[in-house]
Amino acid sequence: MRTSLLAFMLIAGLILPAQRPGRFGAAAPAPPGAGSDDDDSWDDDDEVGDRQSDDEDRDAEDEEKGDDEDGQARTGPRGVENRGESLGPKGGVQGRGGLEITRGPYLQLSTPASVTIRWRTSQPTSSRVQYGGSPDRLELQKTEMAASTEHEMQLTGLSPDTRYSYSIGTSSSVLAGGPDYAFRTAPPVGSNRAVRIWMIGDSGRSGEAQQRVRDAYDAYSGAASTDVWLLLGDNAYDTGTAPQYQAGFFQPYATRLRSTVVWPSRGNHDQTRAGPDNDYYDFFALPTAGEAGGTASGTEAYYSFDFANVHFVCLDAERLDGRMIEWLTADLAATDQDWVIAYWHHPPYSKGSHDSDGDGIMTQARRRFLPVLEAGGVDLVACGHSHAYERSFLLDGHYGSSASLSRSMILDRGDGRPDGSGPYRKPTFGRPAPHEGAVYVVVGSSSKLGGGRLDHPAHARSLNALGSLAVDVSGNRLEAAFVDDRGRVADRFAIVKGKDPVSSVDGRPGEADARRPGANTGGRTER
Ligand SMILES: [Fe+2]
Repeated sequence: MRTSLLAFMLIAGLILPAQRPGRFGAAAPAPPGAGSDDDDSWDDDDEVGDRQSDDEDRDAEDEEKGDDEDGQARTGPRGVENRGESLGPKGGVQGRGGLEITRGPYLQLSTPASVTIRWRTSQPTSSRVQYGGSPDRLELQKTEMAASTEHEMQLTGLSPDTRYSYSIGTSSSVLAGGPDYAFRTAPPVGSNRAVRIWMIGDSGRSGEAQQRVRDAYDAYSGAASTDVWLLLGDNAYDTGTAPQYQAGFFQPYATRLRSTVVWPSRGNHDQTRAGPDNDYYDFFALPTAGEAGGTASGTEAYYSFDFANVHFVCLDAERLDGRMIEWLTADLAATDQDWVIAYWHHPPYSKGSHDSDGDGIMTQARRRFLPVLEAGGVDLVACGHSHAYERSFLLDGHYGSSASLSRSMILDRGDGRPDGSGPYRKPTFGRPAPHEGAVYVVVGSSSKLGGGRLDHPAHARSLNALGSLAVDVSGNRLEAAFVDDRGRVADRFAIVKGKDPVSSVDGRPGEADARRPGANTGGRTER
């Protein structure tokens, strides 16, 4: 049957629906201050000469139209053929009747038994996902007949840690599908299997730098899958409008979005505003009720989830309030995962394009988040905002200005490199233990650079370099590599918990060690 399907060219165009029906008609949880234009935190970020106007952004979008990622041939629809297609007003390729996919598909909110697939069409249609073990055997399907331009389909009843292929379309036609339309469900919570995490920060400036960082990570990864993709905020410059998200995020990352579940955090440039189809909270489907593990937060502004033996916590320093701290305290107290990784936008320690000694939000994050996180056994904290790469020693208890850093707060002042002074060591493995040390990273250079003094004494490494962070967790070992825009590993560090050599969580020795980072990645080289 599939051989009769015609190739169908799709380009993620810039046509935006006037309305967002269904789920999107209901306002997403609005954090305090949402819609405000006079936020002090909009300091910034945009070094002189680096800010683009909306018009310039639109120019950039126009330049990117026709990028190869969305011009690939697709498994074609029965009802929408590529013959007779024509260029739409924005350069997107339209099928007959003008129906085209203008965003996605993209994957959200995965669990061991479910995943959410979203996409957008130029015209209201029904929704259907067909899925199964291979592109040629999409034996299962889910259909929603209500017509919409915004399509959000949650697939449930899936098997854990299992790869599924899928296609998307209307109730009667396939709009997109093929070999790279596939996802893998999360493994059982607490299970001990190698996990690859990709972190990008301040990635929302479309252009060559963004593409080089993206392509360098793709080359570094090779055929290895990415399990968890974290966005560290400022995901679309300058103000996170729908067109800016299209040009700065959905279009340049279209290929990865269809196969890797993305878990975002909100940056100061991801501005919230009233109305549907306007902001971060409309673009992403995030857990509010502990759907993917962790404690229910009741809001998309901050949340947690579990993946294998890692507990992830997403915060928002710009909206920091007592309720968030209460939730964070409860969430960390409730987890018994082996690893805790926290992420948000504003870093507690930075001397890059932002100075954590002079920035109120960064200071607040340091003073209020870090004592709770460290008491809860956090291992790794990842932020963006400063457009550089900065990475700390193994720290505990540093909640003041950089001048207040004392020797006792640096639990290990080695470089953390496996081939240097060795991994950072934490005594306890098997549950979060308080105050055994954490590494803090700033990965804010995934599409732009900002310079700065880059001399914060908490950091072991500070680089004015474009790049992204690859993190591998396997058993009691975490290893991270900063991959710059030329594919070089410009920094590497590791954390080992408990005894080494590795034992898995259920006591079988050696399994985790056998699946160490790199064992399944083939061809990774450090240059
Ligand atoms: Fe920022």
